[in-house]
Amino acid sequence: MRFLAAFFIAVLYWATTITAAPAIIKPFKVCDPTAKGPFLRQRQEAALKDFAKLFLIDKNPKAAFDKYIPGEYIQHNPDALSGREVAIEYLITLQATPGLVYSNITLISGNGLGLLHYRRKSVQADMDMAIMDRMGFKGTCMNEHWDVRQRIYGNETNPLAFF
Ligand SMILES: *[C@@H]1O[C@H](CO)[C@@H](O)[C@H](O)[C@H]1NC(C)=O
Ligand SMILES: *[C@@H]1O[C@H](CO)[C@@H](O)[C@H](O)[C@H]1NC(C)=O
Repeated sequence: MRFLAAFFIAVLYWATTITAAPAIIKPFKVCDPTAKGPFLRQRQEAALKDFAKLFLIDKNPKAAFDKYIPGEYIQHNPDALSGREVAIEYLITLQATPGLVYSNITLISGNGLGLLHYRRKSVQADMDMAIMDRMGFKGTCMNEHWDVRQRIYGNETNPLAFF
């Protein structure tokens, strides 16, 4: 009897660790717009981190969008219209800019939002910007975008400017 109890506790422990832990840690094949529950915040944080890796480190916006923005994409950038195809096309061209480097990448998530803050620089293309992309989550997918951009000239009054 005691053996049986111990066995059940062991199974229960195993089941809890197996079902709970990987949901937080394991990267998703594709996001889930219906995801909810107590670990949603952690899962959104993991999604944002993986999205940033695909987008800014691998410079593969198509892969980032296919995995995390598979459906609607509500755009608030004043120079662009909504829709993921428009954004992917723009970003593929942008990522091909010669000498493009991303640095000072910071990620924050919570309250159903994810924020990417980073520097996008290309000496060849005379491009140097401090950018914040605010992403809206739907489950572990993202479906909305706002951004703020600042031009970096290198002559700023504040020695702590931008980062
Ligand atoms: C920003 O990135 C540059 C280049 O990697 C680095 O030298 C600098 O220390 C970073 N600044 C901050 C505030 O992290
Ligand atoms: C820095 O340089 C830019 C571009 O030349 C200029 O528009 C801006 O006024 C300058 N800012 C300061 C604080 O000198």
